[in-house]
Amino acid sequence: LKFVCLSNDGIDEHMVWLVGLKNIFARQLPNMPKEYIVRLVMDRSHKSVMVIRRNHVVGGITYRPYVSQRFGEIAFCAITADEQVKGYGTRLMNHLKQHARDVDGLTHFLTYADNNAVGYFIKQGFTKEIYLEKDRWHGYIKDYDGGILMECKIDQKLPYTDLST
Ligand code: ACO
Repeated sequence: LKFVCLSNDGIDEHMVWLVGLKNIFARQLPNMPKEYIVRLVMDRSHKSVMVIRRNHVVGGITYRPYVSQRFGEIAFCAITADEQVKGYGTRLMNHLKQHARDVDGLTHFLTYADNNAVGYFIKQGFTKEIYLEKDRWHGYIKDYDGGILMECKIDQKLPYTDLST
């Protein structure tokens, strides 16, 4: 099992994984237009953290780091149907936080959570209250009707991952 974070860089193996992730999103997020999913997953300003097991994608999170604003927007998050509620979603989020902090230099995440995923995001430290100053994110993320805006502050010291997890 491994966790990788990458974007559309033209490397064959990475492209196979990104297509696999796109297919998981299309199945798990039926309200999202498939063309929109493909566009963001393949967009070079987005990155995807993925869980890979035996060279297959189990799930992932696609996000856009706004480095100048020091926050990231999570666009899509899903685990393949038969692997949900086994802890992968939590481990994925921890890898995302570690990467976003240590590589992108981010302090916060914002996301429009689906109603049925609010419980998952709360367990990952997200809140419905937005504490991030509006001028840091307003105009960067698009308004979206189908979800609830949630925020997560990334701890600047906590080790989110270690070699045993
Ligand atoms: N509602 C409430 N709680 C949940 C949900 C949910 N939909 N899913 C998981 N949890 C809880 C689990 O019970 C667990 O709680 P515990 O720690 O007390 O045992 C905790 O959240 C973490 O569970 P994991 O096993 O780590 O979560 P999982 O691997 O299933 O990943 C995810 C969670 C990504 C939501 C997955 O269930 C999934 O793909 N669901 C369908 C797609 C979806 O709804 N994605 C989010 C849409 S919003 C967006 O993409 C921005």
